[in-house]
Amino acid sequence: MAIGRVLQQEIQEAVEALRAGELVAFPTETVYGLGANANNPDAVRKIFRIKGRPSTHPVIVHIDHPRYLQRWVREMTPEAKKLADAFWPGPLTLVAKRAPAVNDVITGGQDTVAIRVPNHPVAQQLLNAFGGGIAAPSANRYGHVSPTRAEHVREEFGDEVKWVLDGGDCKVGLESTIISCLADGPRVLRPGSISFSQLKAVVPTIQMGPNPSAPRVPGSTSRHYSPTTPVNVVPSRRLETVMNEFTANHEKVAVLAQRPPGTANPFMTWINAGIRPDVYARNLYANLRTLDKASAKIILVEEVPEGEKWDAVRDRLRRSASAENIVTYDQDIAAWVADFGEEGGPT
Ligand code: TXA
Ligand code: MG
Repeated sequence: MAIGRVLQQEIQEAVEALRAGELVAFPTETVYGLGANANNPDAVRKIFRIKGRPSTHPVIVHIDHPRYLQRWVREMTPEAKKLADAFWPGPLTLVAKRAPAVNDVITGGQDTVAIRVPNHPVAQQLLNAFGGGIAAPSANRYGHVSPTRAEHVREEFGDEVKWVLDGGDCKVGLESTIISCLADGPRVLRPGSISFSQLKAVVPTIQMGPNPSAPRVPGSTSRHYSPTTPVNVVPSRRLETVMNEFTANHEKVAVLAQRPPGTANPFMTWINAGIRPDVYARNLYANLRTLDKASAKIILVEEVPEGEKWDAVRDRLRRSASAENIVTYDQDIAAWVADFGEEGGPT
């Protein structure tokens, strides 16, 4: 019997591969994960090696049901329990005190572990048949755009990842909401598709952002989720002006907007991603990949609206734009365009 697009035999082969210490890419409702047996440190090390990811960035352990929590977590705060009840299975990751047996390679040597129960039939089936935890980051090279289709995983890794379960397009399209539930209270470390109001309705004490006095938040580097082409976020009213400055020099520009272009331009590749935050989020990474292939000098992204429905999209867009590449809009755009790619500009 097939589950979605994945045959039962493929699930069984993937389980055997995991048991043999190999990596398996699999779909979740957020993005595709690159999975390894979470009880096999050598297998988990392969993930870091193949992604080019620093060992200080811990990985999420995926389980099929909260009944397996105590294998990984030694303490769930009351807030963590409420969040798990409300949103699991789903696009939520909880950070809690780790159980003693959890390997340092998963936690980056910290005393905490990140855990998630995904809501996707293929992920559920795989976890259930495997019967253990699967450690999995997003199935992309370090710092690159996350995959939301099986073909994206193949683009990232080619033959390096033998097992890729194809569950079609991910419905959410952005990585899970990560909430730390430790002694300093519940805190959103990474916004996702669950809005802050939805979280607050379950846990009123929740706060946005990491504890400012915490020593470090792993994985919170500002540059992340990036295409190869530099990305810049531009206010809607300046979009055509900035684009025209580039294309006047016959340089190609790729644009991700929420409306059609105001002017025709032979040097632009324009995607109108629409005004619905859920649809925009679902297509965001595939759109960035498409625009990355346009051989453009720059990807201009129309700034998204204010408001919490756009929090996760805004967060990913901010991170996919390289820090040195932020335009100051008071500055003369023509001068900035002329300098672009020169010293101090993106490379
Ligand atoms: O939706 C998702 O969360 C996807 C799917 C595959 O589940 N996974 C994902 O994993 O986005 P990854 O590794 O790309 O991002 C997980 C983030 C990283 O920034 C990592 O540093 C952080 O979670 N993280 C993992 N363990 C942590 C911990 N113990 N404390 C704080 N942050 C942690
Ligand atoms: Mg990732």
